[in-house]
Amino acid sequence: MPPQKIIIDTDPGIDDSMAIFFALSSPELEVIGLTTVFGNVHVDLAATNALRLLEIAGRTDIPVAKGAANSLVGDYDNPPAHIHGDDGQGNVHLPPPAGKPIDQTSAQFIVEQVMSNPGEITLVPIGPLTNIALALRLEPRIAQNVKQVVLMGGNALVPGNSTPAAEANIKDDPEAADVVFGAGWPLTMVGLDVTTKAVVTDEQLQSYARSSSPMAQHIARICPFYLDFSRRVNGNAVGGLLVHDSTAVAYLLVPDAFTVKSWPVRVETQGMSRGKTWPMVRPNTRATYWHNRPNVNVCVDIDSARTIALEFSRVAP
Ligand code: RIB
Ligand code: CA
Repeated sequence: MPPQKIIIDTDPGIDDSMAIFFALSSPELEVIGLTTVFGNVHVDLAATNALRLLEIAGRTDIPVAKGAANSLVGDYDNPPAHIHGDDGQGNVHLPPPAGKPIDQTSAQFIVEQVMSNPGEITLVPIGPLTNIALALRLEPRIAQNVKQVVLMGGNALVPGNSTPAAEANIKDDPEAADVVFGAGWPLTMVGLDVTTKAVVTDEQLQSYARSSSPMAQHIARICPFYLDFSRRVNGNAVGGLLVHDSTAVAYLLVPDAFTVKSWPVRVETQGMSRGKTWPMVRPNTRATYWHNRPNVNVCVDIDSARTIALEFSRVAP
């Protein structure tokens, strides 16, 4: 089987870095581009970090595009430096990359690649969904020409992490997310229902440090910052570090490690629940909000021991 061609849409980001390295280390996947978006950092730094990560991986042949600086409806001014560091990489302050982003925007790159490779490209958004909504606006036919969309974001049956209601990627652009969930393409939501079960322990992190792989070494450098944040917020309740974004990559590799429901999903855009993803879990003829909305796959459970072990075996062999 030829590898599955993927475009990772990302805001790197500590767990984004882990996901990118996981994908680059997996022969079943061919990363044909990194498209960047605001989120964990402003978009200029997101593109810079993507270039830096590809240099660490020795994969400067992969193009990086720079995309949305703001959500569809408002300015973005709130990067979570307390989670990912001022540099988005745990304050390790990497040197500037040698390369630069391509001239196309993230949305333009996505459209060009999907339309010139019909049925072949999988989109893996692991940041706010703005670039994906902009790509749909630019060329709605990508919905019929993409292979699938596997995104990290949302919370179906569990609380949010950005607010009590909402997960961070969806909260950063709920209007874009509602467009993406309603586009009628094969879509899988890998949200907090499963990513909050994907925990890497201290001991496992130490084994990254023992690996000679430059990717594993970088992960070992940047993760302590993220782990400190997690401990400050959760105490020892979580027992380690949540690998949200890597879990979307794991879904591509071992979908049978996930329990999946098929539901239509709307995204709340108003009030205190702004950014909440609402699946229609029971058929209900009075549920007008979901009228004519397509079903999507929603991951609700995971064999996380299996997905975490797979990530280690790939990134820190
Ligand atoms: O909620 C988890 C998501 O938001 C991940 O994509 C992570 O990078 C964070 O910013
Ligand atoms: Ca991310």
